[in-house]
Amino acid sequence: MLIVGGTSGIGLRLAERCAAAGERVVITGRDEGRAAAVAAGIAGEVAGLGLDLALPEELAERLSSVGPVRHLVLAAIERDANAVREYDVAAAVRLVTLKLVGYSEVVHVLVDRLTVDASIVLFGGLAWRRPYPGSTTVSTVNGGISGLVATLAVELAPVRVNALHPGVVGDSPEWAGKPAAVLAGLVARTPLGRLARMDDVADAALFLLENPAVNGVNLEVDGGWLLC
Ligand SMILES: NC(=O)c1ccc[n+]([C@@H]2O[C@H](COP(=O)([O-])OP(=O)(O)OC[C@H]3O[C@@H](n4cnc5c(N)ncnc54)[C@H](OP(=O)(O)O)[C@@H]3O)[C@@H](O)[C@H]2O)c1
Repeated sequence: MLIVGGTSGIGLRLAERCAAAGERVVITGRDEGRAAAVAAGIAGEVAGLGLDLALPEELAERLSSVGPVRHLVLAAIERDANAVREYDVAAAVRLVTLKLVGYSEVVHVLVDRLTVDASIVLFGGLAWRRPYPGSTTVSTVNGGISGLVATLAVELAPVRVNALHPGVVGDSPEWAGKPAAVLAGLVARTPLGRLARMDDVADAALFLLENPAVNGVNLEVDGGWLLC
């Protein structure tokens, strides 16, 4: 199993869960030393690898030691606060490259190393359906994931490809430290009465990776937040 963006947050939680279940896992972050240190802290057979998705020309070399791959998870993100009235072209190009070109290039590099029963999960996010001020690039790339999952599911058949779109994941590093009033406002709009948690999202990722007939879907994990 390869988890790109497995050194933190949801990717890390998924790595811990899969390693505990006996799966061999490779996690990546931008820095090889940090990725190796995080991997060493996880119980099980876990290795760390350094790569930068915003430098897609380097990915073939960075991934040369990886494979065969049965489960491929692309979860990496760099946050970009970007509004169209104050558009930061360099930041936008970096995130679009990372999330769309970088994800695609990882698949391209590994395509001949995928097992016949392989499956892929791409992470988007609900900013594509519920934008907020400054989400212009994030909403764009998350929407792009839905297009990417469709074309990859067709091009790579019978390999299955699905996308997972979390809402606000309350216990993720990105959100856990936010002001209580902000989090309470989000909970108030969530029919579940609490925010989604990293384990909920990891459960959904495992379902998408393992169910043999689920293919080409965009699964939202948000406790019903989009409804309110
Ligand atoms: N957390 C949420 O509430 C939420 C909501 C909606 C969608 N999502 C989506 O869910 C996924 C996981 O989110 P998260 O919050 O759990 O992530 P996170 O904790 O911010 O972790 C991001 C991961 O991406 C890696 N990364 C960052 N920049 C990279 C680059 N240029 N190239 C390669 N790897 C890079 C980081 O590695 P290093 O730091 O070690 O370099 C880290 O492993 C993301 O795709 C995110 O968009 C999350």
